Amino acid sequence: MVFPDPSHAPLPLVPTPASAQRGEGRLPLTSMTRIVGEATDAPVLIDAVAGRCGIRPEITSDQPQPGDIALRIDAGVAETGGYTLSVADGVEIVGADDAGLFYGIHTLLQLLGEGEEGWGWQRAEISDAPRFSYRGVMLDVVRRFYPVSEVKTVIDRAAALKFNHLHLHLTDDQGWRLQIDSWPLLTEKASTTSAGGDAGGFYTKDDYREIVAHAASRHITIVPEIDLPGHTHAIGVAYPDLVEDPVISDALAQSQAELGQDLPVAGVPFTGWGVGHSSVRIRQERTYDFVRDVLTELSELTPGPYLHIGGDESHGTSAEDFAYFVARVSAMVQELGKTPIAWHEAGAVKDIAAGTIGQFWGSLKPTDAHAAEAAHFVERGGALILSPSDAAYLDMKYDADFPLGLAWAGLVDLRRAYDWDAAEVIDVPTEAIAGVEAPLWAETVRDLSDAEQLMYPRIAAIAEQAWTSPETPERTWESFRARLGALAPLWQADGIRFHPTAEIDWSTR
Ligand code: ACM
Repeated sequence: MVFPDPSHAPLPLVPTPASAQRGEGRLPLTSMTRIVGEATDAPVLIDAVAGRCGIRPEITSDQPQPGDIALRIDAGVAETGGYTLSVADGVEIVGADDAGLFYGIHTLLQLLGEGEEGWGWQRAEISDAPRFSYRGVMLDVVRRFYPVSEVKTVIDRAAALKFNHLHLHLTDDQGWRLQIDSWPLLTEKASTTSAGGDAGGFYTKDDYREIVAHAASRHITIVPEIDLPGHTHAIGVAYPDLVEDPVISDALAQSQAELGQDLPVAGVPFTGWGVGHSSVRIRQERTYDFVRDVLTELSELTPGPYLHIGGDESHGTSAEDFAYFVARVSAMVQELGKTPIAWHEAGAVKDIAAGTIGQFWGSLKPTDAHAAEAAHFVERGGALILSPSDAAYLDMKYDADFPLGLAWAGLVDLRRAYDWDAAEVIDVPTEAIAGVEAPLWAETVRDLSDAEQLMYPRIAAIAEQAWTSPETPERTWESFRARLGALAPLWQADGIRFHPTAEIDWSTR
């Protein structure tokens, strides 16, 4: 579709709101523009506006005047996390709650543009609320360690797309990334390297608290993952008696040979990409002392409701041992007062703790086994987070020539990331879908620039999947193309190094 008359183009909003009407022209933003009312999140607005056009709106307790930005909270205006936004003679944003007001501010920032008369807000009347309560991004901080400052950058940008959860994959074969006081060798011995042999790192407890607090200031809940019982080679580098010897399958031997990477050796840091060879010792009590200590310290650091216990690719653990372990550890998480989340393979376990949330990472057309595993979480009173790897995995290549990323789940161009429906992947009631998450695994990621190129623009497609109901008129690929292209100046101003895929006509102003 072509929009020759800009007044007919959809508003440049991603994710697109539940309802939006374009008004006439722009309301000027000037050095006289002030912020009035509920100003808790005003610094985010002020910093973003200053960064783009050098104007720093003042906060005032006066009555709003024409041109001002009035911020209010009124639970009656929208569902949880929703808001109304009016840009007419002034701006008024009414959040249903704090988060709703925050999301209204981010919608307003997408309406900021520069024309012949200078900077201004596109006039509009918007009423909006999220489709799903869980809208997540995942960082693999093991294969590539992200310093705290980079995690904060990722948080700020994810929040601008209305994501509200950041899943941190804190432990894996290649390293252990969080200080645990009761088992200090984890970070002393098993944190110094990452995939490919690059330097590693870890978060002290203060670092972690800083991340949690920064995320909370952006209405984002941190979801920490300790991947168990597989993906645990690093634990054995620190505490050899907790982990079995590596199980070298033919598939692992072949993949390591093709990659030119060493096979895993017990007690030695593993820097390859292969998966599935490690398992904690399931039938010894000391393993559960360890897991309980780790999860206890982690829950003390985690104000959010969730602890993710992994459960994927435990090929080094027998099905019987896996079931014993998952049932016991999911119950342990609940004893700590948290809700367990696990990758969908854990749904094979009949007695997984009731209420555990499953994270599905199979394909858009799942195998019967994956679909049954995912559905079992719902049968047990839990819910599902959808991360189909052939649509929502941000580390898949866009096309075969893309220099970064992997391709085992397929190539994921922007349209592939956009054009699916979370309610149609697994046959469960829609109410059982907590939401959607976009993981960025980091085998090929060397720095934040690499991460940004893999994330952007596909993360915007997943944001819309998570926020906007499929019945919304603008939730179409053609509309998304136009809206996303119009966001390019905003992303450039924010310094986001997005992949300029040819699927989009990127706007230059
Ligand atoms: C996964 O991709 N192993 C969850």
